Amino acid sequence: MPKLEIDGREVTVEDGLNLIQAAERLGIEVPHYCYHPALSISGNCRMCLVEIEKMPKLQIACNTRVTEGMVVTTTSPKVKAAQAAVLEFLLINHPIDCPICDQAGECKLQDYYMDYGAYLSRFPLEAKVEKRKVVDLGPQVVLDQERCILCARCTRFLDEVTKTSELGIFARGDRCYIDLFPGKKLDNPYSGNVVDVCPVGALTSKDFRFKARVWYLEKTESICTMCANGCNIDIYHRRGQMYRFRPRYNPDVNQYWMCDEGRLWYKELQKESRIPRPLARGERDFTAVTWDQAFSRVVDLLTQVKEQHGAGAIAGIIGAKATNEEAYLFSRLLTEQVGTEPVAGLSWSPADAFHDNFLIKADKNPNTRGLQVMGLLNGGASASDILAAAEKETVKALLVFGADLVTAFGQEKLDAALGNVEVVVFDTDYSGTTEYADVVLPIGTAPETDGTFTNYAGRVQRIRQAFSPPGEAKPGWEVLSQLGAKFGGTDYLSSAEVFAELANKSPTLTGLTYSKIAPHGVQLPGAAPENEAATSQS
Ligand code: SF4
Ligand code: SF4
Ligand code: FES
Repeated sequence: MPKLEIDGREVTVEDGLNLIQAAERLGIEVPHYCYHPALSISGNCRMCLVEIEKMPKLQIACNTRVTEGMVVTTTSPKVKAAQAAVLEFLLINHPIDCPICDQAGECKLQDYYMDYGAYLSRFPLEAKVEKRKVVDLGPQVVLDQERCILCARCTRFLDEVTKTSELGIFARGDRCYIDLFPGKKLDNPYSGNVVDVCPVGALTSKDFRFKARVWYLEKTESICTMCANGCNIDIYHRRGQMYRFRPRYNPDVNQYWMCDEGRLWYKELQKESRIPRPLARGERDFTAVTWDQAFSRVVDLLTQVKEQHGAGAIAGIIGAKATNEEAYLFSRLLTEQVGTEPVAGLSWSPADAFHDNFLIKADKNPNTRGLQVMGLLNGGASASDILAAAEKETVKALLVFGADLVTAFGQEKLDAALGNVEVVVFDTDYSGTTEYADVVLPIGTAPETDGTFTNYAGRVQRIRQAFSPPGEAKPGWEVLSQLGAKFGGTDYLSSAEVFAELANKSPTLTGLTYSKIAPHGVQLPGAAPENEAATSQS
């Protein structure tokens, strides 16, 4: 553990850190472009120059390891002059693009220019080297060669992380440019990450560009729900509308990355098919009703079935897209408040779902493991058993939470099973299953809900409500809590309260609270990654 001094302050850090990392421990920013903690050191931008005692020349902080007794200065006149000179050099051929650049607001050239720049250009505008603009690299990414500062972060990401090497640096001197290698397209499943690593507006996202200025967007920490990996993300949103997902650093799950499909998943969560208000089946079609009317209808329906056929004639199926809190409340509603037994989890994914050895999992549900931990996916009745019982008319009422049974089992099976069954559906969107419903209770998607998911490896991670669900829809835990209260259960004030109770009862989650889970999740003891094949079906 070397002890060193940076800008007059002492710090002791782990051996092997570089000076950018060591300075960070003291809250000191060493400006840098080419350095990225997850990529090899390139040392090409020279923006991170610092002064080190006894060394005659300035040194680059990214490629200098800490040593005992080192005395480093990051703000001396010599360093400041070097930083200004580097910026002046990088900007010699840079276009005057800021007003129309999609990176504005999160561009390191803009930021550092304001903090460290020279402010006066000595280079005539007409002498700037012109390069290609709006170069289509692949399905996700557009390149502006003039804005590139040749930091080689994108090429290193493609060489070292995806190992697909689609991009290279061509030519020499100020004619140097980034481009695709002949015959290649930037279309690997993780291509969007090059936009994140690019420190300037050279690589931009086709999906996000020109949709919103970043300073108008709010950012909420969450988890991608498109597969069981549970990559950590930031949701960028404004007034209840999402504009993009970006990966959030979690050393134990996704490091700095996410896949392209997950990145675009936000679109699926805000489609036209969202259900904005509770619905009850009328003579011919659904009628919009109030929450009170919807709850009364569910209570009447379940009470009637219970009186006529016994509690065992009521069953529930919950999809593995539900949070742990929702699964707990759903299970309690059926087993304790209604008094029935059969509650089954359903973790359905297409048989040919894409997966790889990096992040993408074949299980396209965020909480299969959570449902397993709660005993909803192993041992007891399966969703298939419940549908078979419904077909034999031993199940007369079915509650379905966040699962499309038509996609999982097919129309024919559902027609046979649910013809004479009262069906209550809790879901975010209209689906094949809502067609069978007598009552539809609209719930929020993951970005509209507080809660937790347990990823494929047994890591419990938090999602936070970024904004309210559309219309009169409510977060699932709230709907279940209020419905449970109609049967004498607790009406919980928050999802945190539900989790506290769940953690209190579950031997696996004992002692966990929301504050203990943040920010990188908590690994459940003894929960090694499961065989994915075992978790991809109900
Ligand atoms: S495109 Fe961006 S990431 Fe790639 S070398 Fe240029 S500035 Fe760096
Ligand atoms: S790997 Fe899975 S969890 Fe991660 S971003 Fe892709 S779909 Fe989402
Ligand atoms: S960050 Fe050190 S040389 Fe680029």
